[in-house]
Amino acid sequence: MKALDKLRLGVNIDHVATVRNARGSTYPDPVRAAEIAEAAGADGITAHLREDRRHISDEDIDRLMAALTLPLNLEMAATDEMQAIALRHIPHAVCIVPENRQEVTTEGGLEVARQENRLGDFIAPLREAGIRVSLFIGHEPEQIEAAARIGAAVVELHTGAYCDFHHAGEIARRDAELERLTKGAALARRLGLEVHAGHGLTYDTVQPVAAVPEVRELNIGHFLIGEAIFRGLENAITEMRRLMGEARK
Ligand code: PXP
Repeated sequence: MKALDKLRLGVNIDHVATVRNARGSTYPDPVRAAEIAEAAGADGITAHLREDRRHISDEDIDRLMAALTLPLNLEMAATDEMQAIALRHIPHAVCIVPENRQEVTTEGGLEVARQENRLGDFIAPLREAGIRVSLFIGHEPEQIEAAARIGAAVVELHTGAYCDFHHAGEIARRDAELERLTKGAALARRLGLEVHAGHGLTYDTVQPVAAVPEVRELNIGHFLIGEAIFRGLENAITEMRRLMGEARK
């Protein structure tokens, strides 16, 4: 059987900044976390600059851009402010996410189909600047087709519901969700999109997603930063990589 392409791991360091900000201190430093992630074999660093700056700050983005040798994937809402920041920094990639001030985390995928024109216009200058544009969406075919039509290079499929069903012990619903994600990944690939996946992934949930052949990158944050409390960040990432590699064989 043909070996699958290597699956990249993007480590999301937002919650190192969440802990730092809880005390208004200068530590723990998300840039240091990014350096450790690199040493542990991460392929990229992901950081979400939220409108309310609840974790990652503008200064963190400045420092990450200066310090990182790995590609930075900047997650952001489709606002003029964020577009200007991305164009100032030119990160390797930008992942457009829906953002709602009240939410604890990114709850659902981006509505692309109903705002195709607006999002197409929004991503055009980013694409022209050479930034790889990714859209964080659900697995619905209409969202995937709209992402392809507006010229996104990548779609990141939201794995949150799949993970929630798993942890709630709702196995039939989890498996149905995984099936939809798998079909969505295949459709996206057929349309020429690169496929990423993420949100809520843990050691228990990563392997079935990692085994989907069209998926080229996983972005994982909250679980890894939490697990780092118990086994250290480097070990937490190494184990995630091991599980990903095993699933990919
Ligand atoms: N991908 C996207 C687009 C996200 O918004 C997030 C959360 O910031 C993640 C991946 C990572 O999710 P988690 O922190 O639950 O692993």
